Amino acid sequence: MLPRVAVSRRDLPGAGLAQLADRCRLTVWDGDAPPAPAQLAGLVGDCDAALVLGTDRVDAALLDAAPRLRVVALASMGYDAVDVATANDRGVLVTHTPHVLAETTADVALALILLARRRIGAAVDTMRGGGWTHFRMDGFLGLDVHGATLGLIGYGQIGQALARRAAGLGMRIQHHDPSHAQDAVGSRAVGFDELLRTSDVISLHVPLTRRTAGLIGAAELARMKPTATLVNTSRGGIVDEVALVAALRAGTLHSAGLDVMVDEPRADPADPLFHEPHLVVLPHIGSATEATRAAMVDLAARNILAVLDGHDALTPLPGTPAR
Ligand code: DGY
Repeated sequence: MLPRVAVSRRDLPGAGLAQLADRCRLTVWDGDAPPAPAQLAGLVGDCDAALVLGTDRVDAALLDAAPRLRVVALASMGYDAVDVATANDRGVLVTHTPHVLAETTADVALALILLARRRIGAAVDTMRGGGWTHFRMDGFLGLDVHGATLGLIGYGQIGQALARRAAGLGMRIQHHDPSHAQDAVGSRAVGFDELLRTSDVISLHVPLTRRTAGLIGAAELARMKPTATLVNTSRGGIVDEVALVAALRAGTLHSAGLDVMVDEPRADPADPLFHEPHLVVLPHIGSATEATRAAMVDLAARNILAVLDGHDALTPLPGTPAR
């Protein structure tokens, strides 16, 4: 009998689903909107494996509803929606998609640095609104990126990919990440406080965990230079958004670029985050290229097939067993 695999979206790019369909019986969520937790539990119910997104909650309720489940493959690098301890207890392997999205996500972090620091977001809005009436020497003045010091909080795959790009722009680079001593770019390892105080651009590349939730709050923002730019392509919960808006309004922080927010998605046109002149917000597009999203689905599918075939998972979550 073919193993059964639940898939939480029907619109997955690439050939990953076809690869699974050759070897497994798929139950694919058919809704336009993502499945609610109870719907996902119903979908996964009698399946041996599940392919889900990083935004799908994998918790005790889901695992209780799926006694046959052996592997949950996330088509995402982030796994903050997974109850890892409970999955481990139940013997369910969880895999994610590191490596394949690092370069693509670093591109968006770089874009946010340029958009926010050079006021490009505000300039585009002005053009769209027909507001450019004459050239002014003091119009849309931003701050230079070349020669600025980039501080990376988290120096894993994405942080290092951004460091390589920043080196090409003539930025000086420093990082804070006790777990990554290796460096091929010439970045300086510094303490957290020194990084906050001395960086012109601060970019966040840590996963959302109990330790990093709210890592950048009012106190940390106050330690940054008033000319600093903060960029977050990691997870919204790492930054206190209320404190961020307050710092931008008070002028104690120059600018910010966010690809991620607390409580995504957000579609209220009156949302204060969408109207700050020195804040650029994107709809979580860090990994959104055709090739990278296809590679994420492909890796998730290959993780499922490896586990169902009795092999080690290719990319289990850090610190968890591969079989
Ligand atoms: C990730 O892979 O974690 C990205 O945020 C997309 O889900």
